[in-house]
This record gives sequence, structure tokens and C-alpha cells, in this order.
Amino acid sequence: MKVNKAVIPAAGMGVRFLPATKAQPKEMIPIIDTPAIQYIVQEALDSGVKDILMITGRGKYAIEDHFDKSPYLEEFLADKGKEDLLALVREIGSLARLHYLRQKEPLGLGHAVLCARQFVGNEPFAVLLGDDIVRSKRPCLQQLMDLYAEMPGTILAVTEVPPEDVSKYGILDAEPLRDGVYRVRDMVEKPRPEEAPSRLAVIGRYVISPRIFPILAATPPGAGGEIQLTDALRVLCREEPVYGLIFKGRRYDVGDKLGYLKATVEFALDRPDLGPEFEAYLKELVGEMG
Ligand code: G1P
Repeated sequence: MKVNKAVIPAAGMGVRFLPATKAQPKEMIPIIDTPAIQYIVQEALDSGVKDILMITGRGKYAIEDHFDKSPYLEEFLADKGKEDLLALVREIGSLARLHYLRQKEPLGLGHAVLCARQFVGNEPFAVLLGDDIVRSKRPCLQQLMDLYAEMPGTILAVTEVPPEDVSKYGILDAEPLRDGVYRVRDMVEKPRPEEAPSRLAVIGRYVISPRIFPILAATPPGAGGEIQLTDALRVLCREEPVYGLIFKGRRYDVGDKLGYLKATVEFALDRPDLGPEFEAYLKELVGEMG
């Protein structure tokens, strides 16, 4: 069965980015001039998924406004003859079929995904987390879908992290099947380095079987008092195949200040309109620092 729907949990409070997130959603913080969430929506679209459910919460109106039409702004730009900007603004308004649902309480990622049950129905679906932005030739979600086409099941995007970072992620206990593909035996959410079964960390891209929904509905709150997606995936991998795929590409944790800075610098260096001048500036700066 093809993956036609994606879920983007976007209800988090963004405490790691206060005070910027006091009055605006963290998903709207831009990398240069494009809100982080737009990269995520674009990746889903580039992977062939058009129906996207955004799980939002209080204070997230700016996300809906961003992907909506902007009649006044469009009129203003048209009057001023700013055709390029007008086209840019119009394109964002027509990117995807976006649907919105509010998670009433911050009960965790597992609960956010469970909120998507009606929307998804009985089909495999994608989940993309907004804190992870992946730069790659083939979109990261598309890479998961490629594997799904060959080995139907639940597919998790994974990357190897240094031992000191395992406590930030869901970590796999898994058996290698072939280069870059693992069969998941078990998982643990944010283990201490000495307890981690591997260094294979789940990053925020998933293709998930709908069997996850009844499991999530029966999952009690785990780490941090939240309903953890990882806890439900642990149950799922005993019933159905769950695979880990080492994706190809560079991933940035833009929910982290340093990760955000790295993404900004690397995206800027890549931009034809900014890259050459910015690179010259960085070289000069590094030279001055000696
Ligand atoms: C979530 C998941 C975790 C995963 C991570 C990827 O954690 O619970 O398993 O490894 O996303 O970014 P969070 O970063 O929301 O704490």
C-alpha cells in the first residue's frame, strides 16, 4: 500500500528557544528567510505526499496563516509590481493539502500521533518531526518510502551518534540485515550511555503501520510523564516488522541552538544569492580570529 498521508506534530512549546518562542511557534523560526516548518512540508511534498495533518496546540495560528492565502499581502505586492515576491507568497499558499488538529494538552509525541488516527485510517503513514531538517539529494522521507516499497513494515530513519549523545534519542536494539538496513528487536527512549543497546539513533522521520494506533491507545505515560512513540514502537516490533534505515544526507537538529546555527550557516553557504559573499566574510572572520 502506498504512503499517501503525513503527520507533522507541531504542538511543542519550544522551551529550548525561549524567549524567541514566547509569542511565536518554534516551527516559524526561519532558517535565513524560510520558516523551519516549510522545509518539512516541502520534504513531504517532494516525497510525493500531499495530504498533511499538522498537530498543533495553543498559540500556533501563525503556522496556519503561513500556509494560507494572504490576500492583503498579495494585493500589496501586486500593486507595487513585485512579481517575484508575489509568486513566492502565492506558491506557499498552494503547496499542499494541509489539515490541522489541535492537541489539547501536551501529553507527548505518542499522544500527538494518536490524535491523527481518524485522519490516517487504516493506511501506513509518514511522521515528520519539525526539529529535524535533513539536506539530501533524495528526500529523507522518500528514502524511507523506497525501502517500504521493497520491505513493507514500519521504517525508522536512523543515524549513528556519538556515545555522549545517545541520551537525546530513541536508540535501537537491532540486527543488521544488509548495508544500512536493520531489523529492530527493541528500542529505548533516551538511555544513559552505559545502558544504550547501540549508537543507532532514531531521527524525526518515520513510515508507520496503522497497527500503531491501538497500541498507542493502550500505552501508559512513560519517560517525562508523556505518552512516548518509542514505547508503542517497542510493542509494534514484536508484532510486525520494524526496520531502521541509515538515511543518506546531512541532518540538523534545529530545535537546538547550535544545530540551528549550523543549519543557518550551511544553508546560507549553499544559496546562490548569498553563498559567495557569506563565504568570503566567514573566511575573513576566521582569519581575523587567527
Ligand atoms: C523524539 C523521539 C525520539 C527521537 C527524537 C528525534 O524526541 O521521542 O525517540 O529520537 O524525537 O529527534 P524529542 O527530540 O522530541 O525529545
